Amino acid sequence: MTHFTGKVAVVTGAGSGIGRALSVELARRGARLAISDVDLAGLADTEALVKAAGADVRSDSLDVSQRELVLSYADSVAEQFGAVNLVFNNAGIAFTGTIEQMSFKDIDRVMDVDFWGVVNGTKAFLPHLIASGDGHVINISSIFGLFSVPTQSAYNAAKFAVRGFTESLRQEMLNEKRPVKVTCVHPGGIKTNIARNSGQVDGLDHDELAGAFDKLRAHLAPQGRRGDPQGSREEPTARADRCRCLGCSTSSCVPPALATSGSWLRSAGATVVGKCDVRAGLAVSRSAS
Ligand SMILES: NC(=O)c1ccc[n+]([C@@H]2O[C@H](COP(=O)([O-])OP(=O)(O)OC[C@H]3O[C@@H](n4cnc5c(N)ncnc54)[C@H](O)[C@@H]3O)[C@@H](O)[C@H]2O)c1
Repeated sequence: MTHFTGKVAVVTGAGSGIGRALSVELARRGARLAISDVDLAGLADTEALVKAAGADVRSDSLDVSQRELVLSYADSVAEQFGAVNLVFNNAGIAFTGTIEQMSFKDIDRVMDVDFWGVVNGTKAFLPHLIASGDGHVINISSIFGLFSVPTQSAYNAAKFAVRGFTESLRQEMLNEKRPVKVTCVHPGGIKTNIARNSGQVDGLDHDELAGAFDKLRAHLAPQGRRGDPQGSREEPTARADRCRCLGCSTSSCVPPALATSGSWLRSAGATVVGKCDVRAGLAVSRSAS
């Protein structure tokens, strides 16, 4: 895909953060949009921004963990627009607690949204992406899909699973010569509402956790950058066909060691994909396999 003009783009979790920034940027670049979220107030604000950018937009209440609803939504979007070219499976939640502290229900909810939501969106739209002759599925994992940290086991597991699922899909699309590009995005330290929207086990203070995330994010974001999801005004590179992309609004939104040498990631046993030129999630690494 070399341009976005006239392309039909689907963005889940579009009511906030990365999903909103993506939607607005795609609208500015001439895409037609199908945006959705469970947060209807946030979604309405995004819809207004997208309309102000001049885009043709459809806006729906959609919980990505509800498989049957996602399947009928996909058919309905394809019918309304006549095709689907880009699907950003972006909706996500976080949850903080140790494995000892978390209930099965807590873990299930994170997997339902962060993993099954991506599977639902991918499976539901894949036939339409193939039929378009020019498709691209972009699944949002996380930097926590590359290495694990304590108290984020369910989130880590879901985001690792998204990576495995997405990279396998990419190979299948290549093997079968399907006209669908596949990219897994691994953002980190982006200034969004994710920490404020996230849950935690009883006994942990929500505001304290959100404050700690803000501090960490500010630390990760280099001077002059604050990890804003809308990023800079440089050319986006979503049109590139890459396996895995890393970072957020700029390559420098990931820790310098990662952006420069990748030693941080290597020490976590990850594959280093090089510097990113990511903006608003419309991104891919320059050196990904
Ligand atoms: N912000 C970061 O630094 C960061 C880092 C790594 C990965 N990510 C990933 O980026 C994606 C976007 O997150 P964000 O940072 O913009 O967070 P955010 O909280 O600002 O936005 C997430 C959106 O997803 C929506 N959502 C939650 N559950 C949903 C469901 N079941 N169905 C539909 N929509 C739902 C929320 O209402 C919200 O509008 C997530 O997948 C997240 O895991 C973010």
